[in-house]
Amino acid sequence: MKIFLDTAELSEISRLNETGLVDGVTTNPSLIAKSGRNILEAIADIAAVVSGPVSAEVTATDYETMLAEGRKLAAIADNIAVKVPLTPAGLRVCHSLSRDQIMVNVTLCFSAAQALLAAKAGARFISPFVGRLDDLGADGMGLISDIVDIYANYDFATEVLVASARGPQHIVDAALLGADVVTLPPKVLDQMYQHPLTDKGLDAFLQDWAATGQSIL
Ligand code: G3P
Repeated sequence: MKIFLDTAELSEISRLNETGLVDGVTTNPSLIAKSGRNILEAIADIAAVVSGPVSAEVTATDYETMLAEGRKLAAIADNIAVKVPLTPAGLRVCHSLSRDQIMVNVTLCFSAAQALLAAKAGARFISPFVGRLDDLGADGMGLISDIVDIYANYDFATEVLVASARGPQHIVDAALLGADVVTLPPKVLDQMYQHPLTDKGLDAFLQDWAATGQSIL
């Protein structure tokens, strides 16, 4: 399973990229706004730090302008994935950019029907938002299960990129379903390391070791 960081904060991306566990980054207009940076500069800096796919989202809603924005974003670096919304115009842009070998991440997916269309449009990634579905009392992971099954039925190359993940259990559930990628806030990656029994066990090991008076180095 690939792990992408869902943030535009370069300091957090640099920090966690050093773990060797980060396979890419996703951003969106809200995350760019939160960073306070110019989108073109922020994406260029992120793409220079992380070698995997870096998603940068268009902000127009009409075909022509989204296409122009997408080409400009794709030109920033070779590892840019252009993010487009799951709308008729967005999927037309996806089809056009994919035809030109540009990676497209189709975002704001909330149904299996939408995901089916995105795969047919040539998306490299589909981003179903599990957390926002759960927020409404819907079954976010049920959608992931349906998409994984549908894509397997037709051998679609589109990768299921689980988005809007709110905690480690979302990551585990996505992995159990065979999702290709999960994108998560930095805090969720930090949480995945943590277990109280690990801390307790390490403390006990180190106390017993200290009593030996030995040193490995
Ligand atoms: O990549 C989409 C993600 O940023 C949305 O997360 O928590 O706002 O639903 P959230």
